[in-house]
This record gives sequence, C-alpha cells and structure tokens, in this order.
Amino acid sequence: LIQYPHVSRVVRSLFLTAFVAFGIGAFMGVLQALHRTGIARIVASSDYYTLLTLHGVLLVIVFTIFFLAGVFTWANTRSLDRPPVSKRFTWFWVVTMSVGSAMAGIAILAGLIPSIGMSADVLFTFYAPLQAHPLFYIGLAVFIIGTWLAGIDWFRQYLAWRGENTGERIPLQSFMVLTTMLMWFIATMGVAVEVVVFLIPWSLGIVPAPNPLLTRTLFWFFGHPVVYFWLMPAYLLWYTVLPKIAGGRLFSDPLARVVFVLFLLLSTPVGIHHQYVDPGIAEGFKFIAMTNTMFLLLPSLLTAFTVVASIEHGARQRGGTGYFGWLKALPWRDPAFTGMTLAGLMFAAGGFSGMINAGMNINYLVHNTIWVPGHFHLTVGTAVALTFMAASYWLVPRITGRELYSRPIGLFQVVLWFVGMVFMSAAMHRGGLAGIPRRTAEPQYPQVTFETVAGSVGSLRLQLAFGGVLLFVSALLFLVNVGLTAMNNEPARGLDSALPPALSGPEQSPTVLDNLKLWALIAVVLVILAYSLPLYSIVQGAGLYPPGQEATPAVLAPLLEVIA
Ligand code: HEM
Repeated sequence: LIQYPHVSRVVRSLFLTAFVAFGIGAFMGVLQALHRTGIARIVASSDYYTLLTLHGVLLVIVFTIFFLAGVFTWANTRSLDRPPVSKRFTWFWVVTMSVGSAMAGIAILAGLIPSIGMSADVLFTFYAPLQAHPLFYIGLAVFIIGTWLAGIDWFRQYLAWRGENTGERIPLQSFMVLTTMLMWFIATMGVAVEVVVFLIPWSLGIVPAPNPLLTRTLFWFFGHPVVYFWLMPAYLLWYTVLPKIAGGRLFSDPLARVVFVLFLLLSTPVGIHHQYVDPGIAEGFKFIAMTNTMFLLLPSLLTAFTVVASIEHGARQRGGTGYFGWLKALPWRDPAFTGMTLAGLMFAAGGFSGMINAGMNINYLVHNTIWVPGHFHLTVGTAVALTFMAASYWLVPRITGRELYSRPIGLFQVVLWFVGMVFMSAAMHRGGLAGIPRRTAEPQYPQVTFETVAGSVGSLRLQLAFGGVLLFVSALLFLVNVGLTAMNNEPARGLDSALPPALSGPEQSPTVLDNLKLWALIAVVLVILAYSLPLYSIVQGAGLYPPGQEATPAVLAPLLEVIA
C-alpha cells in the first residue's frame, strides 16, 4: 500500500474509528461484567441497557465493520494492484459510514442524560417494540448506505481491473471481498426495509407500532448473515495472511473459493433459527431454517482443514517434522501468528456451542440465557476480534510504515485475551445451563434460585467478572501498542506484503466458481424460497400494524403544531 499513499490514509482512518469504538465498547463490557455480577456498580441499574446498547452497537456494528472496510480496501487494492477508481468516492463512503455511526452513538449516549429527552436503549437487535429516538434509526440507515457505497467502490475497482485483464481468474483476495459484499447487499435488504419502512416512520410518530414479529423477522433476515460479514474478513486473513506468516503457502485456492461461495449461498436463508421460540412462525419453517443452518457447518469445517493444512505446510518448510512435532517449528513468538491461531482455536469451541443454539429442541434449554453471550464472545468476540487485533500487528506497520512498538507486549496481549475469554465465556456458558438470563443488570431475583451442575453461582459470577477484567486489560494493552506503533519513529522492517501462491492454485479451480452473477442469482432464489411463505403468513396473521395501536407523533408534535 505504500505505493498508494492515499489508500493507506483511507485504511488508517477506518482502523482509527474501529479502534476508538473498540476501546469504548470494551470499557462498557467490563462495566457490565462487574455490574451484573454485583461486584462493582458504577452506574444505576436503570442505565444498564444504555451501556449494553453502546457495547453491542460499538463492537459488533462499528468496530467490526470499520475494520472490515479497512481490510477489504487493503485486500482489494493489494490483490488487483490498483487503487480504487475515484479518491473522492472512497472518502465519501468513509464519511457517510462515520456520520451514520456518530448519529447512532449520540442517540445512545444521550440516554445517560435524561434532560436531553432522547434515548436509544434498544440493544444492538433494534427491533420493535423497544423504540429509539429517530436519530438512532436514521444514523443506522446512513451507516448501511455507507457500506453499500463501499461495496460499489470495490466492485468498480474490480471492473476497472477486469477491463484490462479479460479472461484472467479473479485474484483470490478480491474474490473474497466481492462474494462477501454480494452476500451483504442481499442480507441488508431485510434491515433496510425494517428501518426505513417501519422503524423511522414509527419513531417519528407518522405510523402506529409495527407488527413486532415482522420487524424481528426482518431484523434476523439480516442479523444472521451479519455474523458472516464479521467473520469473512477474519477468514480472508486466515486464508491469505496466516499461511505466509507461518512460512508456507495456502493449501488450496479452489477450496477457499468454494467456501466463500457457500457462505454467499447459505448465510441468509437461516435467520429464522434466531426465532425458534417466537409464536406466529410455523414449526416447519423453523425446521427448514435449522436444516440450512447445519449445512453452514460445511464451509467452516472446510476452512478448519485448509487453514490447518496450510499452517502445517509452513511448519514443514521451517524444518518441522513428525505427526505433531511440526507444531514446534511454528513462529509462536509472533503475536500476529499466535493471536490468529488462538482465535481459530476458539472459533472451534464457538462452533460447538453454536450447534447447541442451532438445534431446535436443545435451543429451548439455553434460549435467552447468558449462554448466548457466552457463545458469541467466542465467535465474534474472539475468533473475529482477536484475529483483527493480531492481524493489526502485521497490517499496521504496513499501512503506517512504522515498526511495531512491542512484539512481547503484543504476544502477552493476545494470550491474555484468550485466557480472559476462557474464564468469561466458560462462566457464561455454565451460567446459561443454570438458567441465568442474559441482558439483566441484577444478579438475583426474589423467589428464584439458580442451580449449577458443579460449583456455585457465586463462583461463576467471580469467574465471569475476573475474565472480563483480564479482557479489558488486554484491550488496553492492544490500543496502547498500536497507538505507540503509529507514533513510532523507527521505520518498519521487512515489509514484504507479497503473498505466496497457493499450493493448488486458481488454475485448478473450475471457472464456474468465478461466475459471480450465477451465485448471486442462486442466493436470491434461496432467500425467496426460505422467506416468502413465513413473511406472508406473519403479515396474514397480525397485519403490518396490529389493531389497537395509534400513531403517537411524539417527535413530530411540535412541528405539526406549528403547521396547524
Ligand atoms: C454482551 C462483556 C468484548 C459483543 C456482553 C455481556 C458482558 C460482556 C458481561 C453480557 C451482558 C448481559 O447480557 O447482561 C464483555 C467484555 C469484553 C467484551 C468484558 C471485553 C473487554 C466484546 C467484543 C464483542 C462483544 C470484542 C464483539 C466484537 C457483545 C455483544 C453483547 C455482549 C453483541 C450482547 C449485547 C446484548 O445482549 O444486546 N459483553 N464483552 N463483546 N458483548 Fe461483550
């Protein structure tokens, strides 16, 4: 990227926003961990949802997606070896995403100051009937439009390359960016309709409260594929950067392409698996969503195989031998390598707890308990977040031209995150099995006791809070290390960003894999099959606006009075 300084600037500014969001989000996280276990309480319990909304939105919408935008801009530019088509257009979407996030963030934070009369304590799953100030929803809409423009920018960059390279295979990193964005365009249709058609007019008081089941369904239409949107940049880094750091080459380019195509096809027609306990959706539709979900195991297992095979190849290039002895030859002192590997390991654990969530019957055991945050702190909270942190130790010197401030601190930091998460997530999973609910400020309720299988509820609380504190310390160390790297006067050494060709290269993969139009079309057909009947029956059931509700022009009232 050094040869395209303005692209480096774009990536740096996206990373900066991501890291600021990460810092504030992590601070909210430790406050929650200490508050809900009753160990230390800094805010009133009535403000707990404000913190939780800020934590969720900043971490899983701002941190992850801004970092993704930085990685995708880097990857598309690197693999096509050309900058985006128009500087102005690129900065336009960066600003659009930033303005949208700022609007949503202000609406949430205002909830802490009641005199402002604005709040958005609706959590990151912002469906009705919880209602936020219109600024929150408008901010979200602006943010999503920003991500669409980013996708258009990457496609334009690709088309410009295609014009000069007819007949060539799409370079792998660019292929990953494009398939992920196709999935995103399809998935965000649900949330766009939810926000623009229902939530914004409702929060402005123009229409009555919408059918909550409809908004939930539209949310989860987007809410599950967004999980893969967080994950795909991590996959991109595991497939293309990790093998290089391990000293080897990607095992199979065709398998990597198959995996991304499978995610494009399978990510969206599964959202109803978040609604197993929702009345008003027939069991048959839920069963279909469960079956589709189980198919998603396939690309994840293919990834586990390909990435481990690539790492093993790297270890053998470094002289590693034996069935397991090769593990010793890997660069464990490199925080980028160790962090990404530990993240992948935790993803496997997250996959197992995810299978429990996905099973229609066993889901009833854990539904809405703290097991669920236990699960996704392994997936998005570690597989994704730890990969992003570890990859930053490799990427930040490349986009700033400055040497990493401290490798030992980096190494300590990634291991500390892993250990902190072992404590926090295990306590959350076990707490969930004891029936402890998620999203609650209080550790106990009158007349309710929670029974643990082993140990006591008190010990689980301590474990959760201890893990949360370790994670927060790890987050601080990360931010200090990258901050000092950005200010380091020492120029970076060994900046070779060339990624070695795969052992089994693109010439081995069927050309149909590069037919993006075909895969996008099949993905749309699958979504129509999975969603048309459930949506039809939801609207048939209670209508768009259930009877008995009236539009309440709270926000528009002063304006309407003036007009009258
Ligand atoms: C929820 C702690 C990092 C995403 C929670 C909860 C706790 C927590 C205790 C449960 C709240 C409840 O249900 O009452 C922490 C700590 C972190 C951390 C201490 C590190 C310092 C992360 C990261 C992500 C993340 C890195 C994602 C990238 C979420 C989400 C929720 C959550 C989406 C659910 C919010 C909701 O239910 O609306 N976190 N977390 N967290 N966390 Fe974290």
